[in-house]
Amino acid sequence: EKGGWDSFMDKEIHEEPAAVQRTLIGRLDDEGRLNLDEVHIDEHDFKTVDKIIVIGCGTASYAGMVAKYAIEHWVRIPVEVELAHEFRYRDPILTPRTLVVAISQSGETMDTLMALRHAREQGSKVLAICNTQGASIPRESDAVLYTHAGPEVAVASTKAFVAQITAAYVLGLYLAQLKGTVFRDEIAQTLDSLKDMPRKIQWVLDTQPSKVSAAARQLRDANSFLFLGRHVGYPVALEGALKLKEIAYTFTEGFAAGELKHGPIALVDEGEPVVFIVPPARGRNVLHAKVISGIEEVKARGATIIAVAEEGDADVERYADVVFWRPECPTLMSPLVDVVPLQLLAMDMAKQKGYDVDKPRNLAKSVTVE
Ligand code: F6R
Repeated sequence: EKGGWDSFMDKEIHEEPAAVQRTLIGRLDDEGRLNLDEVHIDEHDFKTVDKIIVIGCGTASYAGMVAKYAIEHWVRIPVEVELAHEFRYRDPILTPRTLVVAISQSGETMDTLMALRHAREQGSKVLAICNTQGASIPRESDAVLYTHAGPEVAVASTKAFVAQITAAYVLGLYLAQLKGTVFRDEIAQTLDSLKDMPRKIQWVLDTQPSKVSAAARQLRDANSFLFLGRHVGYPVALEGALKLKEIAYTFTEGFAAGELKHGPIALVDEGEPVVFIVPPARGRNVLHAKVISGIEEVKARGATIIAVAEEGDADVERYADVVFWRPECPTLMSPLVDVVPLQLLAMDMAKQKGYDVDKPRNLAKSVTVE
């Protein structure tokens, strides 16, 4: 059932192009209507939403953080992202105009389920983004957008993450068209970029793995790793750090690259591996220059630089010891490709250390206790 792969994780990473593609099929029609799987929220309710709160745990919460950048940009309403287990206990401000988006691969995560129950009790509508048909979270939500990533068996979440981002983007584009915050042709263009991402993920899977394996060999004995990114690269850094903790049991810390000088740079010593998610340089992206200057700072302190960057980025080539390339794509789409080499890196390091990548110690696939 591993279909020729030597682990489920390997198989599931290679299913990412299909996971994104299947999650997109038939979602937005030519009139810009969203095809939800189950809806008990009418168009009027969606139109009057004035705040979104995304809840989830672990990887699902990072997909939510990515979505925040896109949805706020497109829909111009505030989007908060909160860990489900923190949400319920702080008396969050919820109104009938708040849309709570609960993201969960399994649909059974108790922390997320309890948080969504709380939101509904307070009169907010809940939309679930879920990968498991008929699970508790979609059953108890007001509307459901299923991610069609297919069953995810490996404990570490991979294809579900890219499918969750895709589904949340579709929701964002739908709200943007409903509220008229983005021109119609721009929505169509963005949807086209999204539809193009499976091909770009495939390119990463076809061209980068041998480089990733070589890096894993070189770095597997490191005691710790730092992961840094900005904007949508920030949650990608957090997700890359989580993968490495979970299956390679390596101590990692992920943070926003802008924080470096506010403390974490003190950790950087000779040979410390630091992974940077570098935004595209095109369009005189100011964030690109800032991330490059972060790279220079840690390089000067002897760090080993691993970068995920756009193909041909000359600044990155100059400083980085290892580069995983991403094909050219809009910044908001970049998480869908950038996470792939980080998932592969964690998997390769775990394999080289002799660990079971599908069943890491101390972890269960679905966490059904609070
Ligand atoms: C990470 C991982 C966990 C889950 C989290 C939420 O690889 O597997 O962090 O993402 O437990 O699980 P779901 O999405 O099933 O609610």
